[in-house]
Amino acid sequence: MASTSSVQGAAQVLVASNRGPVSYAVQEDGSLSPKRGGGGLVSGLSAIGPEAGALWVCSALSDGDREAVRQGVGEDGVRMLAIPADVHADAYNGIANSVLWFVHHLLYQTPLEPAFDAEFRRQWGSYETYNRAFAEALAEEAGEGAAVLVQDYHLCLVPGMLRELRPDLRISHFSHTPWAPVDYFRMLPDDIAGQVLRGMLGADRLGFLTRRWADAFTACATEFADGLGETRIGVHGLGADADFLRARSHEADVEERIVALREEIGAGRKTIVRVDRTELSKNIVRGLLAYRRLLESRPEWRERVVHVAFAYPSRQDLAVYRDYTASVQRLADEINSQYATPGWTPVVLHVKDDFARSLAAYRLADVALVNPIRDGMNLVAKEVPLVSDEGCALVLSREAGAYEELGDDAIVVNPYDVEQTAAALHEALTMPAHERAERAKRLTAAATALPPAQWFLDQLNALKAVSR
Ligand code: G6P
Repeated sequence: MASTSSVQGAAQVLVASNRGPVSYAVQEDGSLSPKRGGGGLVSGLSAIGPEAGALWVCSALSDGDREAVRQGVGEDGVRMLAIPADVHADAYNGIANSVLWFVHHLLYQTPLEPAFDAEFRRQWGSYETYNRAFAEALAEEAGEGAAVLVQDYHLCLVPGMLRELRPDLRISHFSHTPWAPVDYFRMLPDDIAGQVLRGMLGADRLGFLTRRWADAFTACATEFADGLGETRIGVHGLGADADFLRARSHEADVEERIVALREEIGAGRKTIVRVDRTELSKNIVRGLLAYRRLLESRPEWRERVVHVAFAYPSRQDLAVYRDYTASVQRLADEINSQYATPGWTPVVLHVKDDFARSLAAYRLADVALVNPIRDGMNLVAKEVPLVSDEGCALVLSREAGAYEELGDDAIVVNPYDVEQTAAALHEALTMPAHERAERAKRLTAAATALPPAQWFLDQLNALKAVSR
C-alpha cells in the first residue's frame, strides 16, 4: 500500500465504494463465478467506459471475493480490497450500518440507544483502519490530478485521508442516504462528529440526492465544524434508467413471472405493490398495518385487492434486521389468517430476492406503496410508475428524497400515520383510470429527468472543473 505522496498510478477516474460492481461465489468444484450487480452507480460508470482509465475500488465482501483477491482473479477496471474480515465487520456492521445509517435515518429507539461505549470506540478504530485502506489504495492507483469519486457513509473519512496523501487529486464524496438534522447528529460523540465532517470536508465537492439533505449537511458543518470552507455542495437527484428498465421488463423471464404472479393474485383484483430491502427505514410494518386497516375499514376491498410485498433480506448479520424481518413475516401471516378466504390471499409476501419477479410486480401494479420513515431517494418510487403496464398510482412518503421530485403527482403520506396511509391506499385504488395514467406519465417524466449516466457525468464534469 502507498505510504508516500509520490504519484504512482495511472487511473484518471476512480470510484470508491464498499459494495463494488462484481462479486464472486465459490462453486462446488472450487471455481469462482462472478456476478455483476446493478444500481445507479454501475450504469452511471458504464457511461464513461474502461478506456477512459476508470478504476473502481471496492471491498471484498464474500468468501468468494476474498478468494478472488488471493488468487489474483479480477476484472479490468475493478480493484477489490481484502480488508481483514473482522475489521470489515466492525466497520460495516458496527459503525456504518449500526451508527451512521441509524443517525441519518433517525432509527434509534432513544431511551435505550445509542450508548457510545468502549466497544463503540474499538469499532470506530476499525472504521478508521478500513477508511485508511481505501485512501491508501486510491492514492496508489490514481494518476496525477485524477478525479476520485468516493461513495457513501461507509467511507466518510476517505476524502480527508486521501487529501493528505495526494493533494493533487480532485476528490468528491456522494451521500446516497439522507443527512441527519443537527439535533440528531449531535448524539454522536463530539470528536466523532468532528471526524466525520472533517473527513468529508476533505473533498472538493460533496454531492447529495436532494436539497434537503444538502442543507442538513451544511447545518451540521456550520454547527460542529468550521463551516464548508472551500468545499462545494452539489445536488444530483439520481433518476431511473428508463431504457434499461423498459427493455428488461419485457424479457421472457419477466413474462413468465407475470403469469405466475397473476395466478397468485387471482383474476380481476387490484394490486398494491411494494418492493424493498427488508430495511428498518423502509417502514414495511406500518405499510402492512395500513393495508390491514384498509381491509378493516373498507370491507368492500376484501377479495378485490392483493398486497404484493417483496421484502428482500438485507444486513442479516444485525439482530435488529433479523427481528424486523420476522415482524414483517409475522404481520403478513396475521393479516392472511385474519382475512383470507378460499381463493384469496390478501398479502403475497416474497422474501427471496428475484429481480425479474420484482419487474413483473412493477408491471402489474395498480398502486405502488413507498412509505419509508426516511430515505435518500428511493428508486422504487421512480421505477414502478415507469414500468407499470397501466400506469400505477403512487402512495409516497414525504420523507423520501423522491418526494421532492414526485410529490405533485403522488398521494403523499406521513409515514408514521397509519390511518392516513390506509386512506391514501383507498384513494389510490379508486383513482379514475385516466387520471392515474396522466399522473403516471408525469411521474415518469420527473423520475427519468436525470438518468444514471448523466447523473454520473454531471458529477464527474463538475469535479474535473475544480482547479487544483
Ligand atoms: C443503500 C446504501 C448503499 C448500499 C445499499 C445496500 O442504498 O446507500 O451504499 O449499498 O443501501 O445495502 P448493503 O448494506 O447491502 O450494501
